[in-house]
Amino acid sequence: MRAAEAREPERHRILYDRYAQLFLRPLSRASLATWRIAGSVNRWAGDLSPGMAAFVLARHRFIDEAMIEAVGRGSIRQVVLLGAGYDTRAYRFAGQLRDTRIFEVDHPATGGRKRTVTAANTELLVDPGNLSYVEIDFRVDSLSEKLRAAGFDPAVPAFFVWEGVSMYLTREQVKNTLQTLHALGASGSELALDFWFLMDGSNLYSTVHRTAAQMLSFLSEPITFTLHPEDAPSMLERLGWRAEDVATASELERRFVTDERKVSPANYVLTATRI
Ligand SMILES: C[S@@+](CC[C@H](N)C(=O)[O-])C[C@H]1O[C@@H](n2cnc3c(N)ncnc32)[C@H](O)[C@@H]1O
Repeated sequence: MRAAEAREPERHRILYDRYAQLFLRPLSRASLATWRIAGSVNRWAGDLSPGMAAFVLARHRFIDEAMIEAVGRGSIRQVVLLGAGYDTRAYRFAGQLRDTRIFEVDHPATGGRKRTVTAANTELLVDPGNLSYVEIDFRVDSLSEKLRAAGFDPAVPAFFVWEGVSMYLTREQVKNTLQTLHALGASGSELALDFWFLMDGSNLYSTVHRTAAQMLSFLSEPITFTLHPEDAPSMLERLGWRAEDVATASELERRFVTDERKVSPANYVLTATRI
């Protein structure tokens, strides 16, 4: 979705990630070869789950801006990308993050492929010199131990990004992770994350969105954790985090969408500060 968006006209782009296409496999890259097909990819994704492509792009843009603003305030000197995937923030924001350590935490399979792609594209993906890969299997490894072993300093405030992960976990795993981040992060640490929720209402619109969440089971990515935006601040507070900027679909559209696209109303993104 990020690679396809990079081919949209600049005036309509929700997000610009010039490096995203480097991580595509050959077939996807070939299908993005023309601008027309690139635009269609995001529309197909939109048909499967209405507004999902626009949400994925707006979520990334929201977190980009939250992270840069937080680091710019001065005390945060560590960024931790949990389940980093093909996140290219270390490269896109190399200038703004030059005095910040960056930890990309992911499964060895994803992290390994990412290293292969970056090693093959060093002219474009210039080593920022402050980036550490942390290999982990969240199901069995201790995040705290892995991060400390990689050089994470619990005395220095951090910005944690937990993007596109919570919906695939159990409630216990979500709670444990938030508690772990609270324990790991020094005072002044911040967090950006997103949640999925099941829309109530018996009308067709809500039913389509509830069905879209179930459809992901057929792509082997079942949605297992949902949290209504009204309930997020109280749950976060019990786990040591104060919700700050909660951006639901209409707010993401207002901030970032300049064409006719709609953001999925069943997803939202937020920032929180450590209590
Ligand atoms: C939906 S992707 C989100 C990627 C990235 N944050 C983004 O928004 O583009 C979920 C990420 O979680 C990672 N992941 C899934 N299961 C994992 C596990 N058991 N241990 C470590 N990482 C895992 C995947 O490798 C993938 O990079």
